[in-house]
Amino acid sequence: MKRAAVILAAGMGTRMRSKKIKVLHEVGGRPMVDWSLALADGLGCDKRILVIGTHSEELKRVAANRVGSENIAIQDPPQGTGHAVQSAEQALAGFEGHVVVLYADTPLLPVDAVEKAFASLDAGYAVSVLGFDAAEPGGYGRLICSDEGDLLKIVEAKETSPEEFAVTFCNSGVMAVRSEYLFELLSRVTNDNAKGEYYLTDVVELARQDGLRASAVRCSEEDVLGVNSREQLAEAEKVFQSKTRLKMMENGVTLIDPDTVYFAFDTQIGADVVIEPNVFFGPGVTVASDTRIKAFSHLENCSIGEACQIGPFARLRPGAVLHTGVRVGNFVEIKNSELGEGVAANHLSYIGDGDVGAKSNIGAGTIFCNYDGYFKHRTTIGEGSFIGSNSSLVAPVTLESGSFVGSGSVVTKDVPEGALAVGRGKQKNIEGWADTYNAEMRRKKQS
Ligand code: UD1
Ligand code: MG
Repeated sequence: MKRAAVILAAGMGTRMRSKKIKVLHEVGGRPMVDWSLALADGLGCDKRILVIGTHSEELKRVAANRVGSENIAIQDPPQGTGHAVQSAEQALAGFEGHVVVLYADTPLLPVDAVEKAFASLDAGYAVSVLGFDAAEPGGYGRLICSDEGDLLKIVEAKETSPEEFAVTFCNSGVMAVRSEYLFELLSRVTNDNAKGEYYLTDVVELARQDGLRASAVRCSEEDVLGVNSREQLAEAEKVFQSKTRLKMMENGVTLIDPDTVYFAFDTQIGADVVIEPNVFFGPGVTVASDTRIKAFSHLENCSIGEACQIGPFARLRPGAVLHTGVRVGNFVEIKNSELGEGVAANHLSYIGDGDVGAKSNIGAGTIFCNYDGYFKHRTTIGEGSFIGSNSSLVAPVTLESGSFVGSGSVVTKDVPEGALAVGRGKQKNIEGWADTYNAEMRRKKQS
């Protein structure tokens, strides 16, 4: 059976109090709308339709980039969740199969929870809704079920009778419907209700009236945590982080103090990696096995090989590629650079736009001067080179294998293989100068 997802993202998200549209705010380093698109992919959806409003050019651009303009449905103006799904009718024309409605502000929903709703359609139900037992049912729609467990109707909080209001089994908003019924049922939904909106939830009662069956399947409240405010955004982030920390440990990663390590949605860490406290992973980081990431390091879009030692206080920026056994120490920043096997850069350096050959040593305080105010340039260092402390390598510049740079040099010219480059003022010693100077100064101070 083919599958399609209709992802609702037309809400205003006013409670975020943000210039940025709600579904572009990030959880685990990934915009919420991308979480729902990834969920649709995980469910094997052949089609993904994004329903958006007209108020955000940025979201329009992101949507076109993610699903293509033919899979965008514009809801103008938004008149409720039923109306939102209805506006996807054209984009879904000709589709036959199972359709699931997802919210783009519910980033943590796992694939297996939605699979239960699809399984219910496979078992013959026309509609299946994902429900949860709410700690505080408040404004959620209530799921009213028969004694046999079939879903009879969904009642919005504002429309409930006192008995219905007391029900704690609530609508998550996720609904799977067989395509042959979806738009026919929606065409009969009216806006004759407390909010004057077209409720998607009315589909359940309409289906029952046609003699079709509906079901409600359970998931945890955490799974369907919706984000409407910054507080809920932080709550979602917290849930994501604690789940990810557990997953990392299950996969053989040691976290000395798990609560202080932050991962992104795509962080990949090999077995027997040890991560010390207070480490932050932005998106796009891969760490191979047996590496140690020491305290207070910050990493994003970089790749670290096996058995490396990183930090403490290391900063690995986009495009940093470290091969096996590299050592990066405190206050070293690396950007868009490749460090070969066994390279050491142990103290206080900036390595930007460089290629460093295997087994080279980058002395304390070395700076790759990669920017001339207009363009970036590369620094290339051959294998087995030694860069003396406090040197500036002014790019573009090439230091061939086995080259040696005297401490404190400003290197502006290429260095041939095996050569010593010294680019600094020559030292001269003046015999007795300090003794004369000190005697003179002491005499002046006393008089
Ligand atoms: C909805 C459900 C309710 C459920 C709750 C779960 C209906 C009528 N009610 O209520 O049963 O318990 O979600 O959170 O479906 N959206 C649009 N276009 C619209 C309206 C909404 O795209 O015209 C999108 C929003 O951006 C949001 C989602 O649909 O992602 C839900 O809308 P919201 O207004 O929050 O629905 P609730 O009233 O919370
Ligand atoms: Mg809501």
